[in-house]
Amino acid sequence: MPTSPPVAPPRTGAWRGVVQEYRAYLSLPADAPAITLHEGNTPLVPALRAGRGLDLYFKIEGSNPTGSFKDRGMAVAVAGALAEGARFLVCASTGNTSASAAAFAARAGLPALLAVPAGDGAVAKGKLAQALAFGARLVLVRGNFDQALAAVRALAAARADAALVNSVNPLRLEGQKTGAFEVIEQLGDAPDWLCIPVGNAGNISAYWRGFCEYRQLGLARRVPRLLGAQAAGAAPLVHGGAVEHPETVASAIRIGRPASAHLARAAVAEADGRFLAVDDAAILTAYRFLARQEGIFCEPASAAALAGCWAAVESGLIAPGQRVVCVLTGNGLKDPERAVADAAPPLEAEATAEALAAALPADLRD
Ligand code: F0G
Repeated sequence: MPTSPPVAPPRTGAWRGVVQEYRAYLSLPADAPAITLHEGNTPLVPALRAGRGLDLYFKIEGSNPTGSFKDRGMAVAVAGALAEGARFLVCASTGNTSASAAAFAARAGLPALLAVPAGDGAVAKGKLAQALAFGARLVLVRGNFDQALAAVRALAAARADAALVNSVNPLRLEGQKTGAFEVIEQLGDAPDWLCIPVGNAGNISAYWRGFCEYRQLGLARRVPRLLGAQAAGAAPLVHGGAVEHPETVASAIRIGRPASAHLARAAVAEADGRFLAVDDAAILTAYRFLARQEGIFCEPASAAALAGCWAAVESGLIAPGQRVVCVLTGNGLKDPERAVADAAPPLEAEATAEALAAALPADLRD
């Protein structure tokens, strides 16, 4: 595929985080302080083996400071919270929002109250560890994410001193749209397709806004089509109605009532895109392939983007040769239990050269 010449200006100097770098493009009060962990500026890595005839790239959002794309939106939401004089942050989460909120709360010197679903496997262990390490108040809620979100929305509505930092806060989407800005800067224009996992439906809406704004500003020639990948057991946007008991191995997107469903539906319609369901087996196949064939360790929810991309190639929706970006939203270390359960157990041997050599693959043994 011919590469179009770059239309976005090249960036120079040390990276300063999304608030400082993109302030002119963010609707954020002018006096809002730049709270930053130098989030953003994540790699766009070309696929080596996953491409299936596409010109395929991975946007590695697991390289953000707390290991997920949430940091982009959190930096902006917390800047806004400080400008408004909020006294604490509150959010519901399947894990990544809470990890990010906890980190930025620590950075801003504010307390954070985090509501996550209780229960074995409801939230990946690495994410819980982050929330605790950053010193947040972590509450395990008897209910699923949707119920936890309803509870924190009610609390925030009753408390003028609370900053709700879920993606229903418009500043979260403002921050997350910078992912689209970067994709355009890295490729020189928007790709043909953007494949992205969908849970609460904020990020796909934010990316669409970012693509549209850069085109409007003349910094891109076009916008991509959007492929929103949902887990089959938690696919309200595919099936058209709320899912009461969402279930999937991809706990980050185990969501039955996406708060930004209306925005995501509008985005996908405007983009001539599609929502698509991928089952857990397909998600785990993509998860393994990314780690073992591409050297990229993301969490299962992120792998849904590639599973969705492959399904769209299979059905002919995405044509050979097209330029496609899969957004890999979170780092694989977030969910160490899944990684261990999904791999062969390690070997054990005596501490000798011979014993180690015997552990080599058969074709490498003498
Ligand atoms: N990928 C990962 C790794 C996520 O953590 C999430 C959402 C998504 C994709 C979906 O993004 O919700 O904007 O459609 N995680 C939220 C959380 C719900 O609480 O961390 P979305």
